[in-house]
Amino acid sequence: MKITGTTKITGVFGYPVKHSLSPVFQNAAFEYLGLDYIYIPVEVSPENLGKAIEGIKALSFVGVNLTIPHKKAVIQYIDEIDEEARIIESVNTLVNKDGWLKGYSTDGYGFIRSLKEEKGIDISGKNVFILGAGGSAYAITGVSIKEGVSKIYICNRTGEKAELLKNALSKRLQFQNILVVPFKERNDKKYWKDIDLIVNTTSVGMKEGESSLIDEKNIVSVKLVYDLVYNRKTELIQLAEKNGIPHMDGLLMLIYQGAVSFELWTGMKAPIEIMKRSIHADT
Ligand code: ATR
Repeated sequence: MKITGTTKITGVFGYPVKHSLSPVFQNAAFEYLGLDYIYIPVEVSPENLGKAIEGIKALSFVGVNLTIPHKKAVIQYIDEIDEEARIIESVNTLVNKDGWLKGYSTDGYGFIRSLKEEKGIDISGKNVFILGAGGSAYAITGVSIKEGVSKIYICNRTGEKAELLKNALSKRLQFQNILVVPFKERNDKKYWKDIDLIVNTTSVGMKEGESSLIDEKNIVSVKLVYDLVYNRKTELIQLAEKNGIPHMDGLLMLIYQGAVSFELWTGMKAPIEIMKRSIHADT
């Protein structure tokens, strides 16, 4: 990679940002397509976020990604927000157009695209069981509703958060088919008659030996298991694999959300296979 006076700068603001894999696959993609771009990780503490966002304009960055803990806080500092990002109150990508900063959320579209491109699955008409009620759950629920999902079950350890998600998104998107499943009842068979997809957005499974929140008897009846955890093969994924159920992990989600950001910055189609290879080579 050759950095010159014409190189366009992108990157990620996070805190911490040390372990981010995004620089690996974004730079691999720029290099593969011969684009004069660079992607750098920048550690930005919460108290410096406003100044860092001003810095994007001052330093003429083309755009950045935002990661934990900035996805919500960044909204107050930008000039415009995309509709999807507004609905889920989360921005993970900024595009700087002549000093005008527009915020997007690529998490949801990354999810939808990964399902289509990796497994040929269209979310429309499907019944989805989502574990968790944090930022990723908002993004996935929001985009799934927009793409015509049939029914969504939300199940979270802290039930109030699941209720908040349900109330916010059902109102904003005029969609009534979101149901909250009490955490203790999550394996009751009444919920599992017609579920197509399980999506785990919680951190359960990041540590070895953390058992799956969903029992094997319920996993065997679904069409796909998607676990956003990406640091190891979770027990949920292991159960899917054991039973021959198609499954996807968080690395794919990471790459596809990054691919949507890449396309917003460069206007070019992201080389997904190259991005995937670069990450596997690095881990
Ligand atoms: P993100 O923004 O990536 O979705 P987050 O907002 O930190 O992440 O949310 C983490 C999710 O993991 C939450 O839904 C959390 O449940 P609570 O709302 O009850 O905290 C869930 N989670 C974390 N550890 C868990 C555990 N041991 N059992 C069940 N859920 C857990």
